[in-house]
Amino acid sequence: MEVDVKQDCAGVDWKAVSETLKRVGMAYYEPDVQRKAFEASHTTVFVYHADRLIGFGRAISDDAYQAAIYDCAVLPEYQGKGIGTTIMKNILPRISHCNVILYATPGKEGFYQTLGFRKMKTGMAHFKKIESMRERGFTE
Ligand SMILES: CC(C)(COP(=O)(O)OP(=O)(O)OC[C@H]1O[C@@H](n2cnc3c(N)ncnc32)[C@H](O)[C@@H]1OP(=O)(O)O)[C@@H](O)C(=O)NCCC(=O)NCCS
Repeated sequence: MEVDVKQDCAGVDWKAVSETLKRVGMAYYEPDVQRKAFEASHTTVFVYHADRLIGFGRAISDDAYQAAIYDCAVLPEYQGKGIGTTIMKNILPRISHCNVILYATPGKEGFYQTLGFRKMKTGMAHFKKIESMRERGFTE
């Protein structure tokens, strides 16, 4: 499938970002909050098919030695076609000088393993919605 990959936040439909995150069952916020998070990120990637935003992801980083990936999502009807891999392969070279961490949605760990990620044994989180995150399988 022919897709366009963009790294610039200019012109992004933040409502579509919010709605996509909601559709795939990830945490989502008001469009303005999504824009703030992506614009403040070190690396952003947006994938378009025929001008439709079909997937995206971002990394925050100190640009020295640590980075974390967030909000990697692909519209359900485009999943399983290599778009998630495209997103990650456009993010990772930009933070190749860093250790990279992320927390996968339960059940999606295998996707990141195909990209060389390994499960962490000592990951700790102080989530805002701590009980909900426990119920959803993110924490003990
Ligand atoms: C997870 C997600 C980003 C993967 O994107 P995708 O475009 O569907 O993935 P790809 O087609 O690039 O798959 C790449 C590889 O990962 C594998 N993979 C994808 N999802 C997987 C899963 N849940 N478990 C195991 N392997 C998986 C694919 O089989 C494929 O392997 P292959 O290269 O050997 O064929 C996408 O499914 C998604 O947006 N899901 C909902 C949101 C979400 O949970 N995001 C992750 C937040 S941490």
